[in-house]
Amino acid sequence: MNKIISNLLLNNELEKAKKYFDRIEEEILPTKFDENINIQHYLKEKIFNFYYNKESWDIANNFSKKEREEKKLSETFTYGETTYRSLSYIFEYIKSENNLIDGNFYDLGSGAGKALISASLIFPFKKCIGVELLDSLFLLSENVKEKYNENIEKQINENKEIFKDFNNIPIIENIKDDILNAKIINPSVILVCSTMFDENYMNILGEKLEKESNVGTIIITLTEKFNKFDINNWSLKKPFKVKFSWGFPSIYIYRKLK
Ligand SMILES: C[S@@+](CC[C@H](N)C(=O)[O-])C[C@H]1O[C@@H](n2cnc3c(N)ncnc32)[C@H](O)[C@@H]1O
Repeated sequence: MNKIISNLLLNNELEKAKKYFDRIEEEILPTKFDENINIQHYLKEKIFNFYYNKESWDIANNFSKKEREEKKLSETFTYGETTYRSLSYIFEYIKSENNLIDGNFYDLGSGAGKALISASLIFPFKKCIGVELLDSLFLLSENVKEKYNENIEKQINENKEIFKDFNNIPIIENIKDDILNAKIINPSVILVCSTMFDENYMNILGEKLEKESNVGTIIITLTEKFNKFDINNWSLKKPFKVKFSWGFPSIYIYRKLK
């Protein structure tokens, strides 16, 4: 860590790195993390930025709009993105309260794959699996996967200090299908960017995920909740708000108890 700190100091970035998770106006954050955790994610975000350039949001959003118009898809397919910062904050919060179980990360509705790449840099999941129905977004995510496969081992080896807990390198997998058709295997964490999902859809999806989750599986939903989850089987944390591309959705974190 000493070398990392002197490098940041040399580049005049240390103060900024220490404040990586400082609250943005409108965010409601449940906890603060120490400087080392802030610095670690500040540096990992630089690796994330190697995979996605500044135009990536416009490209994915325009592809999505065009394909939705052509296929006359409903609003539930509206595009939006997580950011590395928001997802790493959520993971640190989960880890501060419970150990994550071994297994896979799922992003149900994975767009251009930003949450997949983020998750693969945050925690040594076995696999980070995205399910996306739109061809154009699936292809964008496949391209990033190729770049990841070519570079990630070197990036981890060159940054051992911030990947200390990485005994394995997560495998990225993209599935082009409807969320409801995807087989969820050995899930450690499931992300559902559910802001545009209605109550009926959440009930159907909830029923599927109740069956396919294990004890210890974490499910993260945004804006919408699973109102039909059996409260004896799941814990639900007090919601908070963190910045996403479309605003400050409420973050619901479920953990399967039995
Ligand atoms: C708000 S975006 C989130 C993208 C990604 N999870 C991220 O964080 O960057 C939701 C994505 O879910 C996809 N989607 C919505 N409904 C879906 C369905 N039933 N099956 C597969 N993908 C779906 C949309 O096409 C869109 O790319």
